[in-house]
Amino acid sequence: MTIIEAIRRRYSCRAYQDKPIEQEKLDSIFEAARLAPSAKNMQDWRFVVVTDKETKRRIAETTIRPEAFEKAGAIIAACSNSDYVMRCGQAIGPIDVAIALEHICLQATELGLATCWIGSFYPEKVRPILGIPDDIAIIELMAVGYPADSQKEPKRERIEKILCYEKWQF
Ligand SMILES: Cc1cc2nc3c(=O)[nH]c(=O)nc-3n(C[C@H](O)[C@H](O)[C@H](O)COP(=O)(O)O)c2cc1C
Repeated sequence: MTIIEAIRRRYSCRAYQDKPIEQEKLDSIFEAARLAPSAKNMQDWRFVVVTDKETKRRIAETTIRPEAFEKAGAIIAACSNSDYVMRCGQAIGPIDVAIALEHICLQATELGLATCWIGSFYPEKVRPILGIPDDIAIIELMAVGYPADSQKEPKRERIEKILCYEKWQF
């Protein structure tokens, strides 16, 4: 699968088979995360992978759509231990974690798995379940697993709406 094929095939999966993910596949998607770029190469991301059924159910309950995610083979809590702000004024934590998570999405797609970013969750509920310390930001959850649904036609803006050359022309 080429990169553009993986990009085209990735979609947000909200129905999963109740099937575990092979350890080699988990290793492979986290290798893709490990190799992601990060500001100053700080690599301040931390991932807690939940595969235990009961813990997955409890983590899914911290989201606004528990039924969509509880069967996923894994739910990842993607965290950052950095509060570093770049010269441009942007915090690196969410940016670096997001890049690594998208590496995970694409590698998972390559391996026949599906994923969903989950921002609609309550971090204060996740924290005690996983024992995540108060000074660690829980940036996103991500479901990964064998899909029980299929991709719908992606809704995207026309390129002219989001892209211009040389000068701001929007
Ligand atoms: C940062 C971020 C947070 C998201 N949070 C959620 C979420 O909480 N629940 C959900 O079902 N989808 C969530 N999504 C998925 C988006 O709704 C989805 O990517 C978008 O609708 C485009 O659809 P596609 O991913 O299938 O192409 C999130 C996506 C991103 C990038």
